[in-house]
Amino acid sequence: MIRSLMPDPMPSFTLVDVPGAVPLLGHLRTFKTRPLDLLSTWWHQHGDALRFRLGPKTLHLFSHPDLAEDVLVTQSERFAKVYDPRRPSGLALVVGNGLVTASGDVWKRHRRIIQPIFHRARIATMADRMAQIGEQRMAGWAADEGQPIDIADEMRQLTLEVISQTMFSSSMAQHIDRIRHALQVSVKYAFDSFSHPLFLPQWVPTARNREFRSVMQFMDELMYGLLASRRRSGTTHDDLLGVLLHARDDVTGEGLTDQELRDETLTIFIAGHETTATALYWTWYLLATHPETKARFHEELDRVLQGRTPTYEDLDHLPYTRAVFDESLRLYPPAPAVQRKAVTHTTVGGVSLPAGALVLVSIYNLHRHPQFWPNPDRFLPERWLSGERPRSRYAYLPFGAGPRACVGSHFASVEGPLLLALIGRRYDLQLAQETVEPQVMVTLHPKDGLRMALRTRHAPVGSTAR
Ligand code: HEM
Repeated sequence: MIRSLMPDPMPSFTLVDVPGAVPLLGHLRTFKTRPLDLLSTWWHQHGDALRFRLGPKTLHLFSHPDLAEDVLVTQSERFAKVYDPRRPSGLALVVGNGLVTASGDVWKRHRRIIQPIFHRARIATMADRMAQIGEQRMAGWAADEGQPIDIADEMRQLTLEVISQTMFSSSMAQHIDRIRHALQVSVKYAFDSFSHPLFLPQWVPTARNREFRSVMQFMDELMYGLLASRRRSGTTHDDLLGVLLHARDDVTGEGLTDQELRDETLTIFIAGHETTATALYWTWYLLATHPETKARFHEELDRVLQGRTPTYEDLDHLPYTRAVFDESLRLYPPAPAVQRKAVTHTTVGGVSLPAGALVLVSIYNLHRHPQFWPNPDRFLPERWLSGERPRSRYAYLPFGAGPRACVGSHFASVEGPLLLALIGRRYDLQLAQETVEPQVMVTLHPKDGLRMALRTRHAPVGSTAR
């Protein structure tokens, strides 16, 4: 058979209006109660290109890899992030104009400066530190053995410590609990303000607004204080802050202002821990509910590590552990959707979008698309070992795609499997609650926490270090 060398033409999609919109509110009332569920149900019922309304906002829901590729890669110049630096909303209320929220030239300049920090060679040198932090946290678990713990909360603490110590040396160590609280309060506030059109503006003196202002003041004082003390001391640190403070744009030769430094450090703090924690705790959940997979995972760890602490080099010899992590990112992508705004009128897969149109690319739906994944809802790490890949590379986008793809993807791809191996070699995690319901709050998290009991596995052979 002669195959054309031309790429497959992009199929044409028909935009379907989701039924059931009510005057003024549109679909808001049902959406607010179970957004993830609804986006998936609508997609199953009505197709890959949909339009729905949340109060005054009209959104386009795209759930096909070709549409994702067009928005995020091919036409990325025509789609911007939804944040407006003159009127900050959502996450921008917390991180200002940092890498996740910025657009245009500011974003380009910051990305050029920050990207080298995440170079593979640098991440490799951080792996031992990651493992050390994991060992320290696990030492605290020994006392709780048998007592269920909230593994979602534990993974958040762990990844926060990892990001704080790898990116900011030990500068933040004594503040870690307050930082955790501040991030929790501020991110929840940002999410609610974005998703509830009737959210009261910040100047209204409600208890919630006051709490938000107070945690932001704490974070600002901490960040600006740290910048000032680094500048005063004149010592150089080989961490994120050190690099950012001395960074000069190759093209313009300019450094970052204090405000920009504050925005970027806070961005890395938030983007760099919650997502990886989410990936880890869903992986523990999936393993706990699939005993055969868990047994194969444990078997690989025992065989390869022989009881010692995993290192960066070990990761190449733990293909099943990586497959477990990749499969968990497929079923429970920590960022279940990415949002964009059309900067100009354009057409995507035959769907006409006016300037200003809001688009939601559903990573969650892409990852379960039956045209691209056999048994899409099943947890099958083996699919990553067979060498077979989905027909489109845009069917799997846990880290996004195109110029705005995750800058920390390699960091996370080392940290995730490394911490899984570290914990899994010592503990068997068993589910200690009956129901677990995923819910979106910036990332995908379990609505009522995730309680698990830790059982020590057989005494590891050898020492904790190589
Ligand atoms: C499993 C872990 C992670 C997942 C699933 C994840 C996912 C994502 C996704 C989907 C995007 C693209 C958002 C968009 O297109 O709108 C993104 C962007 C970003 N991520 Fe991650 N991420 C993870 C870990 C990290 C880590 C560890 C860091 C930093 C240490 C990080 C920093 C960032 C930043 C700064 C951006 C914005 C990049 C830009 O717009 O230039 N992420 N991430």
